[in-house]
Amino acid sequence: MSEILETQIGAVGYLSFNRPAKMNALTRGMYKELALKLNAAAGDFSVRAVVITSEGDHFTAGNDIVDFMDNPPESESSDVAVFLASLLNFPKPLIAAVKGNAVGVGTTMLLHCDVVVASPTANFSMPFVTLGLVPEAGSTFLFPALVGYQRAAKIFMTGESFTATEALDMGLIAEINADALAAATKIAEQIAEQPPQAIINTKALLKASKHDSVAAVMKAEFEIFALALQSDEAMEAFMKFMAKKGSS
Ligand code: COA
Repeated sequence: MSEILETQIGAVGYLSFNRPAKMNALTRGMYKELALKLNAAAGDFSVRAVVITSEGDHFTAGNDIVDFMDNPPESESSDVAVFLASLLNFPKPLIAAVKGNAVGVGTTMLLHCDVVVASPTANFSMPFVTLGLVPEAGSTFLFPALVGYQRAAKIFMTGESFTATEALDMGLIAEINADALAAATKIAEQIAEQPPQAIINTKALLKASKHDSVAAVMKAEFEIFALALQSDEAMEAFMKFMAKKGSS
């Protein structure tokens, strides 16, 4: 079965991370599928909003660390970079339903979503520095713009996680709901009933002032990220993760 499930109910498309045994950690293949499916939804008149969700108890544990070691993304044509570009440029409303852990790109991708609903137990973290890496997906621009420099720097530099209540307070999410997917579906359906061109134009206007800056920051982040992936600091952190796996 595909590791990215795709369904459509009415005018709402659903993309679901489907690798629960690995906490939905994202591989190259999953990024590729996500980008393909997002681009297809962008051009499909019958889809008016897309919900990003997950199978199992968690949203995603972020990039698959084994994949980071085996297939480090090196160029802007890498699957992760193509996925992030498709997220940045997705013209229709993106609604996320988050439960459990949202690690790394699991949190940074939310900065690109239009409405995020999280379950009360959702837990967000961006432990890039702990892995010897740097934040990505335009988050070094978007996150401080959202929460202020001090709060963003503390979260990035300590690698600490934060709760759904804290995420709501920051404005990272719009709503907390015990059934995040049902709540996200309701919002997506409400949006899908609106005149579609007005929705697309409104999203474009909402995103316009930051779009080019985010694209430029993403490019810079990617270059540093690719170098960091080859560093001793990253290798040491990856080996630590692998050792934990081995001992459990
Ligand atoms: N890459 C690859 N596999 C991952 C993963 C990741 N990012 N995150 C979790 N997994 C796998 C684990 O190896 C484990 O698989 P196994 O049972 O075959 O060994 C399974 O998913 C469950 O994870 P586990 O670590 O046992 O769960 P936990 O509840 O003890 O810990 C986390 C949860 C999220 C704290 C821990 O999995 C973790 O730190 N993951 C890495 C997160 C990360 O750094 N992501 C990259 C950010 S840039």
